[in-house]
Amino acid sequence: MSFQRIGIGNAHLELKSTIEEQCQQRANQIHYVHLSQIALNEYAMCIDAKDVPSIEEIGQLLKQSNALETKGVVVIKSASHLATQLPDLLKEIYQETGQDFEGNASRTLRKKVYKSAQNVFHTTQLHHAITLPQHNEAAYHNAYPKIMVFYCKTPASKGEGATPLTKNNDLVRKLPKAILEQLQEKGLLYRRYLPSQTSPVTQAFHGFIQELALGTAFPYASWQQVFDCENRHVLEDKLKNLGAKQYTWMPNGGICYEVHKLPDDPVWLSPLGFYRFGSDTESGLRSLLEQMFSLIQQSCPHLDSDEIKQEVDQLSQLNLTSGWPCDLVGVPISEGILQQVRRTMIDQTVRFDWEEGMIMILNNHLVMHGREQFRTPEREIHVVFA
Ligand SMILES: [Fe+2]
Repeated sequence: MSFQRIGIGNAHLELKSTIEEQCQQRANQIHYVHLSQIALNEYAMCIDAKDVPSIEEIGQLLKQSNALETKGVVVIKSASHLATQLPDLLKEIYQETGQDFEGNASRTLRKKVYKSAQNVFHTTQLHHAITLPQHNEAAYHNAYPKIMVFYCKTPASKGEGATPLTKNNDLVRKLPKAILEQLQEKGLLYRRYLPSQTSPVTQAFHGFIQELALGTAFPYASWQQVFDCENRHVLEDKLKNLGAKQYTWMPNGGICYEVHKLPDDPVWLSPLGFYRFGSDTESGLRSLLEQMFSLIQQSCPHLDSDEIKQEVDQLSQLNLTSGWPCDLVGVPISEGILQQVRRTMIDQTVRFDWEEGMIMILNNHLVMHGREQFRTPEREIHVVFA
């Protein structure tokens, strides 16, 4: 990954604190239901690894109980001895491995825990002040993981940094019928723009975000990073495998592609909660991006201002519409519907505190996850999926 240091000095500090304040304001609006110990047992299958210490025994128990197909969540306490065996545990409970969903990264860049070939990742590197909305992993594609195994190496402080859960069925049950029917009629068109690592504007923006120390606060990974490839034809093949039949190469080397989500797909509603997370409104996101790019341009006057304008346009567009695939065009979904879905999602979301050595296994087809904000930077959660 190459970053261009752009030397923005102190000019960005004010913007950084504005962004952090906005994150805090959004987080303050969100209150998830706290699962007491008893409710957690109802919501999920809970196991103490002292009773079933080996991977084989856990696998056996999950097969017998069918908990991952019924409850969709399994929590295993006191499992520190399994910390380095997450891929083996995943293999034991879910045989279908080897699917390359995106590459080494995702919408928000993911870092590997070990240098070895094993795909054990740190969970999202998004800035700790950001509340990551509820989502089924990679639900914006038509091929996505079925099982996710999380491991808590270091929890955040009590009451922070949880991985909140929402059952897909709870969201569908609670959504107003009129909204559901409207969305069911034509399904959702998810449009994704990924810039190119070769674009000078992209490199400058990456450098800016790094100097802002916001982590990957904005979903601004390049297609080369996300799909772990450099070749356009390789990417096109990958996109077809993920269900993206429509794609357009942009003049700046970036790509726009479109995935159609239909109601017979178990995770089809998930991208609605995730639709835009730089800001709550399109104008808010545009204004934030304009401020950022204006600072970038001050330090990098050689950058083409037309290209910058196009970048802001691409990034601030709402990436979700309703309709049939038709040359990257769909019918806008109203802010009202988006907010209603988001509110229902929040109301149906539950949380519990991570404990050191805790494992959580999710059926990604049945249960969404997110991330609460936290203040303790040492929080460390690992994840494997297949
Ligand atoms: Fe996720």
